[in-house]
Amino acid sequence: MEIIVKDNAEQMSRVAARVVAKVLNAKPDAVLGLATGSTPLGLYKELVRMHKDEGLDFSQVTTFNLDEYVGLTKDHPQSYHYFMHENLFKHVNIPTQNVYIPSGTTDNYEAFCRWYEQEIVDSGGIDLQVLGIGGDGHIAFNEPSSSLGSRTRIKTLAKQTIDDNARFFDSAEQVPIYAITMGVGTILEARQCLVLANGRSKAAAVAAMIEGPVTSMITASALQLHPRTMAIIDRDAAGNLKMLEYYEWIQEKMVNAP
Ligand code: F6R
Repeated sequence: MEIIVKDNAEQMSRVAARVVAKVLNAKPDAVLGLATGSTPLGLYKELVRMHKDEGLDFSQVTTFNLDEYVGLTKDHPQSYHYFMHENLFKHVNIPTQNVYIPSGTTDNYEAFCRWYEQEIVDSGGIDLQVLGIGGDGHIAFNEPSSSLGSRTRIKTLAKQTIDDNARFFDSAEQVPIYAITMGVGTILEARQCLVLANGRSKAAAVAAMIEGPVTSMITASALQLHPRTMAIIDRDAAGNLKMLEYYEWIQEKMVNAP
């Protein structure tokens, strides 16, 4: 895993946006996997800025979001459909028909999940998957004990995730208990992964993801198996890393690497 430590979340977002822009510049019809939550907000803001100021083009881009709460309609302010529309899609020139987000209101989840996986394959596969990490080490909503080979399906959220996400709702009771989420196996098939983390509350999960054993108890640790994963984290989220000095040394020396 390539580990890039930045001083704060703003710098993290700027570097992440450059990674996304590089993919889009090399392949204008790239397929992006996208995450929601507070972590990628700065990234989306920077992508919107690059679209407006620098002409970053989304006209041929296709996107697949990681997850959605079961039971929330598209226009619910806490739904991930709403989040993506408000924070990215309505500000850039991505065609509506190129946007895929798991449905939280389908009447046949099994069929929907199969369809979603097939659409990813039919679109040529995900070129760059953007990820955040949960306090319990989850990627997407693959909670502890999720199979590392899992595909898109319904997951029951962990108590910690419900408590963590209660900040977006009026109370923890209002957080949906189920989510529809890409699986760890689905995520690992992306050609490149970009995982972001900021803040002290992510330090333990980040250390487990990077330096812990590969385990279904921290599904982000499965990224160690991916040949092309970049983690961009801020100094607070890097707080528990034992080999931090080495990762920074690599970044410094990489400039002149043969
Ligand atoms: C959201 C998602 C989740 C979040 C994670 C961190 O689409 O897949 O895994 O990335 O829960 O959430 P924040 O960024 O709000 O701390």
